[in-house]
Amino acid sequence: MNVKRKTSVPPRWRSEVERILITDEQLAKRIKILAHEIEKDFRGREMVVVSLLSGTVMFLADLIRQLNLPLRLDFIGVSSYGSGSESGELVFTKELRLDVRNRDVLLVDDILDTGKTLSRVLPKIRALKPRRIKTCVLLNKAARRVEKIQADYVGFEIPDYFVVGYGLDFAERYRNLPFVGVLHPHIYEVFSAK
Ligand code: PRP
Repeated sequence: MNVKRKTSVPPRWRSEVERILITDEQLAKRIKILAHEIEKDFRGREMVVVSLLSGTVMFLADLIRQLNLPLRLDFIGVSSYGSGSESGELVFTKELRLDVRNRDVLLVDDILDTGKTLSRVLPKIRALKPRRIKTCVLLNKAARRVEKIQADYVGFEIPDYFVVGYGLDFAERYRNLPFVGVLHPHIYEVFSAK
């Protein structure tokens, strides 16, 4: 099959998404490399992958299909209150169910932004006494960090753009886009003016 390179925003989304920041091809390529790195570090040991809902949905699915080692999968539901662009108060909507004591944990999130989410979630998991925890994020937006935290595995370093797609939302929308795109400011400006 002849796969065309998709670098421009599909017409349906053009009024809302300014441009594509990371294409589906770039995502696939990078995730494959990331998975190899993780595989090497975990040396074939079984891991518990803990994924944060809901933004990780696509990244997680693609990442674990590239991980050639035994794993178990669980989710923590955590969300910043409200649907604006700022990470506000955090609420836990689903707790971990698998026992991670003495296990190797890979904590997966879609984006590391202010760092508030990971710095709330990590102590919660540490308290369950895993053997070790490694963190993996698809995107790292270092410019907005307020917590002193960094991820062990990072897919892409990105500037301070409002990004959506490939699991990332704005007001719960755009998660289904197969690429990471930059949201038109007029979309979130209208929202935060309400
Ligand atoms: C987003 C994202 C990360 C978090 C990162 O979650 O999925 O978990 O914010 O931001 P931070 O580093 O500033 O804490 P959100 O609360 O929007 O929930 P979602 O995953 O359901 O979109």
